[in-house]
Order: sequence, then structure tokens, then C-alpha cells
Amino acid sequence: MTPTEAQDKINLLSTELEQHNYHYYVLDQPTISDFEFDTLLEQLIELEKQFPECLSSNSPSQRVGGQITKSFASVKHQYAMLSLSNSYNQEDLIDFDRKVREGLGIVSNGLFDEQIEYVCELKFDGLSISLIYENGQLKQAITRGDGVQGDDVTTNAKTIKSIPLKLNGHFPPLFEIRGEIFMPRPVFDLLNKEREELSDALLANPRNAASGSMKMQDSAQVAKRKLDCFLYYLLGENLPHQSHFENMQSAKTWGFKISDEAKICRGIDEVIYFINYWNEQRYQLPYDIDGIVIKVNNYNQQQNLGFTAKSPRWAIAYKFKAEQVSTELLSIAYQVGRTGAITPVANLQPVALGGTTVKRASLHNADIIEKLDVRVGDFVFVEKGGEIIPKIIGVDLTKRNINTESTHYITHCPECNSKLKRDEGESNHFCPNENECPPQVIGRIEHFVSRKAMNIDSLGGETIVQLYKAGLVKTISDLYDLKKEQVLPLERMAEKSANNLMEGIEASKKIPFERVLYAIGIRHVGETTAKKITKKVKSLEKLITLTKEELLDIDEVGDIIAISIANYFENEANKNIIKKLIHAGLQFELTDEQQQGGTEKLKDHIFVISGVFEKYSREQYKEMIELHGGKNSSSISKKTSFILAGDNMGPEKLKKAESLGVKLINEYEFLEMLK
Ligand code: IVH
Repeated sequence: MTPTEAQDKINLLSTELEQHNYHYYVLDQPTISDFEFDTLLEQLIELEKQFPECLSSNSPSQRVGGQITKSFASVKHQYAMLSLSNSYNQEDLIDFDRKVREGLGIVSNGLFDEQIEYVCELKFDGLSISLIYENGQLKQAITRGDGVQGDDVTTNAKTIKSIPLKLNGHFPPLFEIRGEIFMPRPVFDLLNKEREELSDALLANPRNAASGSMKMQDSAQVAKRKLDCFLYYLLGENLPHQSHFENMQSAKTWGFKISDEAKICRGIDEVIYFINYWNEQRYQLPYDIDGIVIKVNNYNQQQNLGFTAKSPRWAIAYKFKAEQVSTELLSIAYQVGRTGAITPVANLQPVALGGTTVKRASLHNADIIEKLDVRVGDFVFVEKGGEIIPKIIGVDLTKRNINTESTHYITHCPECNSKLKRDEGESNHFCPNENECPPQVIGRIEHFVSRKAMNIDSLGGETIVQLYKAGLVKTISDLYDLKKEQVLPLERMAEKSANNLMEGIEASKKIPFERVLYAIGIRHVGETTAKKITKKVKSLEKLITLTKEELLDIDEVGDIIAISIANYFENEANKNIIKKLIHAGLQFELTDEQQQGGTEKLKDHIFVISGVFEKYSREQYKEMIELHGGKNSSSISKKTSFILAGDNMGPEKLKKAESLGVKLINEYEFLEMLK
């Protein structure tokens, strides 16, 4: 292929990929499967590798990230990024409408008043961003900062799939568009679930999560955060229309994600109707909003009204009240997490709040209980803000019964009765009995057998509890001493499930070192960190000899992780567990193949991977193919040796494979080839 041909192909692929992106992330109407998309993207990346001179800074390949920003450059905004003045009730809104009319010289006769045309929009709860486009290309993305200057976060912004890198249609040659970057609720919930599994601190709300993500130095990490962006304000010369709403509709055709919920409201009464509607409906949205923004639609009117020093006179934000209810506190329970942290939880008389029925609320820690002086039997005010769990914000003292008693925080673990500890500067108490406290022990075993760890799927949560209660398994290493005769008498355990369990445990002995390291549950050592560590140190024997400095040398390992690793291997009980696991035959070093960089078993074989797999991920299969001398390709051709086919392989792929007579193998046949 000549460079010109490559450039043509790259242009074609880029346009196609951006179109698919637009359909998927802006219109929410996917046109091709994820696999087909990945295939096209891989083709593009491959071509750009071969012809680096053809790589454009706005290529769709840049969306996967990879660039590191050591420190974000501070840049001055061409137009200051002002904020909006706030309103909290109907009177404030009527007052705003009155000032707008006065400002425009509209006299009221009280009967047939000329109504102002407002645009009502959702007030997205994220971080504001200004995007600059020059000749239809994204040039720069700047955060709000202090309003006068902000941080250049262009590299990170490019990973947000709903932000177009190149525009379509008739757009002004130079303009700025502003909007809000946010993290959708489902993405946030999943992220926190993963953090919980790793015992990492939970993120308070999607807004913090979004702004924290945009500050990350590694854009590949930002890409993983699956952020999104609604645009709501266009600035520049030569805009197509003389009104806000129409310009936003044009911006939509250029490729921006513009909310469909924005509406034109004639007069303040319609505005109030819109606000009341969304005050109720906001919980149905898959993202957080904290109010409504009301803007005068017409640009001439906007211009006549102008700005104060801080905000435009032609717009106002209406802030929703965090919904509050009062209900009775029935009891306080103390939960013990997998890491031993104690969380006091209020059991409440069930009450409707924010679209759901609330039965429990977090009381956070001893200090908060003391500060609120909250007592069982009190009527408490519960609020649902942006946080995950509703919180108790106060006590209705007018309803306090004189017989209530002050709450005394527990001193001993409700599960194992150990004396609780509280470290200097820490807000939570914790149970130090990590090796015997039931929820801690069970939680650790659950993590050990989980899919991404040892993948013993024949051992479910209920069986773990049974095994623990029967005194058969108290540590992860006890699993390897289990005998079939011991498990058979357990409730609901039949011959077949017992066999499966024993086979699952046996098979786990072949799980590679990096997953074993993740499975043993060293605090803060997640899947990726475990991989990076094993790649560098190759064996446990080596790992335990490393000094803190040497540990810090490993990619992804910072202070907290280094200390956590050192603490883990200094603990006598942990040492015993590891000894037993080694004895049981688990993998504590990379295999010879992994160490020597693989074999030549797949030499001259070209693979196409398609579908979803059970045992390993697609990425892992790709790595294995390369490790053993094979080649990965994204499209099926006469040269393809095998298609490694998982579930849900696309019908077109299947047809093509059949017509070319390419052999399909499943993952087990593939793993067999490596033996
Ligand atoms: S318009 C000059 N529209 O709320 C007007 N802002 O203080 C610029 N926000 O900083 C803002 N949704 O981050 C506008 N539909 C929306 C919005 C919105 C959220 C944020 C924005 C701004 C703050 C207002």
C-alpha cells in the first residue's frame, strides 16, 4: 500500500468510525456490533502504526487514550466562563421574569402580557467544559477553573465518545461550545462496586467521580471511566441562528450531544410547570441533575439584558431541594465489611423518598452519631442528595420522647466480639480480628473464588457460608484440604455438585500466578496491579524480598500499595496461608513459557478472535496467541488459519468463515493447542 492509499483508507475508516460513535453515543442507536466496531478500529490503529505520518491528532484511535499529561497547562478563556445566579422557589422565578421584562422594557397590563420565550434545560450535575472547534476539528477542551482561566484537558476530553472530534454539516469556522461532563449513574454504581471489592474508598457521588476522572494524568484510565457530555451553550461569531434553542438544534446536526429534554416555555408559568415535572421525574434519568436552567431564547433580548459581574441577566438556575422526609429510627445496626470496617446503619420506619422506599440510612461513624445526638425512637430527617445512600441530617427534637437514651457506640465487634480499634485520624472503627471474624473471613473466600480470581464457580456464596459454619474452611488455604466426603453431608449438596466443587478446586491450581496474586486479597492490589507486579517480579519468592523502593519502581504501585504488600507478607497468619497454598500446588511463579516469552507453537498461524469467552478475556487470548508465536488479525481472509470463536459470534462473520473454509475452534480447543 502506498502512503496515499493508506491515507485514503485511514480517512475512510476514521469517518466510518466517527459515524458509528455518533450513532452509539449521541443518538443511542448503534448501527454495528461492538465486535465489528473493534475490528474497524484495530484496522485503523494498524494502518496508523505502519504509516505514522498519516496519524491525525483527531483520529478515532485517540479515543482509547494512552497519552500521559504530567501537568495540565493553564489557559485563558476567550470568553469568561461565568456561572448562573440561583433561585430556590416560585417567588424567585417570578422575580426573575419581572426583571427580564423590565430590562426589556415590556410593560405589564396584568391581563394580556407579552410572554418571554424561555428555554428550560436540565441542570446537569458534573463539571463544566469549554470545547473549541476550528474548521470542524476539536482544537481544545478547557475546564472552567476560576472562570478566567482553566486547565487544558484536551487529551482526556478526546476519550469521551460523545464529544465529536470532527464535525458534520455547515458549522461556523471557529466557535466555542460549552457543556457538562458527567458520569452516568450506572457507570458510577459499577465503578463503586469494583472499588468496594478492592477495599478502595468509595466515591461520594457521580459529580466527584467525573471531575476526579478528568484530572487523571493517564488518558487511558480516563477512557475507562466512560464519561459522557451534554452541550448547552454556543459562543462565537457567525452562528447560524439568532436564538439559543435553534442554534442548539443545529449543533445537534453537527454531531454534538444535545439533550432532548430542553423545551421552549412561553412565560414563567410554563417554566414552573417544567420545573415541577422534572422535580418529580428526575430520579428516572440515568444521570444526576441538580436543577433546571432557564434561559431567554432570543439573542437580541439576551444582548439587551447583558451580564452582571458574575452571571448573565438572561438566565437563572433553579436548584432542586434535596428531598427530605421525617421518619422514626427503629434501631441502629453495625455492619462489618470484608476489610473489618464498621458501618453504623439506621433502620428506619420505611418511607417514600426520591422515587424509592427508604428503609435504611447510613450513620457513617461514631462522630456523626455523637454530633447529631441521634437516639433510637427519635424522628429523624432523611435526605437524598447526590449520594448513594440516603443520609440522616438531623433529629426532629420537637418529637423526642423523654424516655429515649443517648446512643453508646459499640466497643466490641457484633460478629466476633473482638475489641474494636480506631486508628489515629481515621473516622471508622474496625475489627482487628481479620483471620477469625466471620464476615471478614467469608468475604475473603468469596473474593478468592470469584471469576477474575481463581474462578471456582462451582463454589457459590451459600456453600462458602455452609463450609465456614461447619468448621471446614476458615482460610482460603483450607479449600485445598477439603475432601468430597466432608462436603457431601452439607445441605443441598448432591454427588454431582460435590464432584464439580472438587474439580473446580483442582482446576484452580493451574490458574496463573498473576491471578493468584490478585486472589489472595492483598488490600489495594487489584487485577491490573497484580498483572504489572508479576510481569516485573516473575515469582512470589522474588516479590517478598523486594524493598519498598523496589516495589515503588513497579508501574501502578504507589505508597499505599507498597505498604499494603509489605504488611501482608509480614503477617504470620498470612505467611502460613501462603505456605499451605504453595504446598497445595498453586502457581506462584510465571510459567517457563511466560518467562521465556513463550513458545513457537502457533508459529505461522493467523487467528481472528470473535465473540465472548468464558475462561479468559479476549485480551488474554490475544496475548496468548502472540506469546506462542501466532498472529492476531481483525478480519477474516483466505490467510486466516483459525477463528477462535466464543459465544455470540456475528452471523456475517460465520458466513464469511464458512465461505472461505476457515476452521472455527472454541476456547477449549485453543487451550488444547497450547498444551
Ligand atoms: S448555562 C452563562 N446550562 O451549571 C451560562 N449551565 O452555575 C452558562 N450547568 O457552570 C451556563 N447544566 O456547569 C448552563 N443546561 C445548562 C447547565 C449548566 C449544568 C452548570 C454549568 C454552570 C453551572 C451554573
